Amino acid sequence: MNRNGKTNIGVVFGGRSVENEISVITAIQAMEAVDTDKYDVTPIYISKQGRWYTGEALRHSENYKHMDQLFASCEEVYMRPVYGDNRLYKVHRRPFCSDVAAEIDVILPALHGTNCEDGSVQGAFEMTGIPYAGCNVLASANGMDKITMKMILAQSGIPVVDYVWLTDKEWYDRQQQVIDRVEGKLNYPVIVKPADSGSSVGIEAVHDREHLIEAIENATAYSKRIIVEHLVEQLREINCSVLGDYYECEASVCEAPVRSGEILSYQDKYLGGGKGGAKRGGTKSQGMRSTVREIPARLPQQTTDLIRTTAVETFKTLGCDGVARIDFMIDEATGKVYVNEINTIPGSLSFYLWEASGVSFDRLIDRLVDIALRRSREASFKITSYKENIFNYSLGGGTKGSKA
Ligand SMILES: Nc1ncnc2c1ncn2[C@@H]1O[C@H](COP(=O)(O)OP(=O)(O)O)[C@@H](O)[C@H]1O
Ligand SMILES: [Mg+2]
Repeated sequence: MNRNGKTNIGVVFGGRSVENEISVITAIQAMEAVDTDKYDVTPIYISKQGRWYTGEALRHSENYKHMDQLFASCEEVYMRPVYGDNRLYKVHRRPFCSDVAAEIDVILPALHGTNCEDGSVQGAFEMTGIPYAGCNVLASANGMDKITMKMILAQSGIPVVDYVWLTDKEWYDRQQQVIDRVEGKLNYPVIVKPADSGSSVGIEAVHDREHLIEAIENATAYSKRIIVEHLVEQLREINCSVLGDYYECEASVCEAPVRSGEILSYQDKYLGGGKGGAKRGGTKSQGMRSTVREIPARLPQQTTDLIRTTAVETFKTLGCDGVARIDFMIDEATGKVYVNEINTIPGSLSFYLWEASGVSFDRLIDRLVDIALRRSREASFKITSYKENIFNYSLGGGTKGSKA
């Protein structure tokens, strides 16, 4: 807690991810929403090169047009992977000045994508023992990888579309076998995705073998792991957010994002529609706030109920905490509902779904902080070491003793 009695939230964003800019928008929205009577905010921006910065200038989106100027007006910082140390240290310490830039009580990760939403950053916070909002390492990693996520959900009886997965190496070494495997299990059209990317980057719907080869080649530029799925042709997409933890969580109202082409594209998500989206409207991107959407989604009550219940089940099955968004696909030809994916740090933290469900953005952040602090407290009760030192016992086999 700061000297003024307020809890200091470190909002971490940016990162070595193709979604770096989107994360800046999510973070700025969150920092604006924080209840300043209760909290202080320390912005912590991770650059595309992986360097960490703090400073007030990071709170204004127009400053991101000139990155060199932005960095020059900020303090470069780092955290030490030492348990119990919750300080941000200055990289360039000035004489007679403290080397501490800030002390953080709780981290709010507002990052998206690879190296960010996949457990990497969460691992760093586990090392320091600093409480952080959102999913832990395991849930983040499983939620990010579209292959493990689908394996776990399918195993738990949650409906997902049929899929085949492969590695880039397999593709380079045994292309024909991979094609046979895909065509043996799925009929065209299919959809090819890098397993751990986001924002529709590297994703292509394909209608024949020639295009399949191109799409897999393209996907291998983004990831070592590729998933090929059955393509739902008469697709209606519905998203639903879940807030809470394993013990207690609730689903928001549902939304129906509107797409301009065959798949929901990067432009649809962040630039308000087709390719000229942002320009057409003449407005700057506001992250997921820019998506054209219907809230609440107009659906039969029974379908809404099914989606909300399945969203909660998905959240629990993957062991999530905090706020996540679960994206569904309805096949309008058959009426079947599938979970497409989970976003463990959803764009804009899904605040617009919670506002529509009666939870204001500042209250949402409040809940995220409470959940983070509670999880951290609970973790501290678990045994992490034995009192006995095994080196005080005589070990028959010497230091090479078995690991039984
Ligand atoms: N199996 C599928 N059938 C039809 N369309 C799909 C399928 N999977 C994804 N899409 C389309 O592609 C978009 C992006 O895919 P998604 O799996 O959500 O990846 P991302 O993590 O990049 O958002 C979806 O929003 C949807 O429009
Ligand atoms: Mg998606």
